[in-house]
Amino acid sequence: MTSSSAKVSLLSLLAALVISCAHGACTTSFTAEDAQSVFVPSGLDPGLIPPEGNVPIGQLFAVGTQHYTANGTAWVLTNATAELFNSRSENVGVHFYLAQKDAKGGQPSWESSCPRSIVTAKRLFTAQVQNNSITWALLSATDSQGYSGLFGDVTYIQRLFTQDGLPPSSAPTEINATCTSSYSTFYVYYKQL
Ligand SMILES: *[C@@H]1O[C@H](CO)[C@@H](O)[C@H](O)[C@H]1NC(C)=O
Ligand SMILES: *[C@@H]1O[C@H](CO)[C@@H](O)[C@H](O)[C@H]1NC(C)=O
Ligand SMILES: *[C@@H]1O[C@H](CO)[C@@H](O)[C@H](O)[C@H]1NC(C)=O
Repeated sequence: MTSSSAKVSLLSLLAALVISCAHGACTTSFTAEDAQSVFVPSGLDPGLIPPEGNVPIGQLFAVGTQHYTANGTAWVLTNATAELFNSRSENVGVHFYLAQKDAKGGQPSWESSCPRSIVTAKRLFTAQVQNNSITWALLSATDSQGYSGLFGDVTYIQRLFTQDGLPPSSAPTEINATCTSSYSTFYVYYKQL
């Protein structure tokens, strides 16, 4: 993992620069440069790769928290909240778990506000790439709205280069105890050709 670790550090550094000068902006959709600047490392577990016919349209850096609730014996992921930044220093949306009517937890979602668009997805595959960080993941869209916005035509989402976000290593002692854990990652968005 040496060369990709170096890449991760470089990306983290770039991301830090992005955040330090972030400002609000109306972003209608990913640009051709956004698509070209997507970085997906080679040698990924095949489970993390979307089916043929789907192409990357952009990537966003996310910084936020993973939310855990104790079920009595373990910390269970119940939500995530993060701000999303593009490569032009713009805070273009948020990530969160959309609450489900059937009360079975939430569904990972990414929402842009200007114009509004949202994609909700389900996790297909995860890989523990770094010991001290949450998994890398592939998700497929289950619902989307706002075709002219950033996320209206997203079909797959990859979570790559995760940093931190794990729950405490000690088991919870109290049922329904909650905790949050800071994390950052890159989300890569795909659409169908
Ligand atoms: C709590 O979650 C863990 C991990 O998902 C699971 O193995 C365990 O059965 C759950 N316990 C209860 C009481 O639901
Ligand atoms: C996750 O947190 C966001 C922001 O607080 C909230 O709007 C959303 O309903 C929460 N999702 C779940 C599943 O609790
Ligand atoms: C995680 O840690 C274990 C034990 O230290 C080590 O054997 C393994 O290679 C590590 N895995 C990764 C993906 O770094």
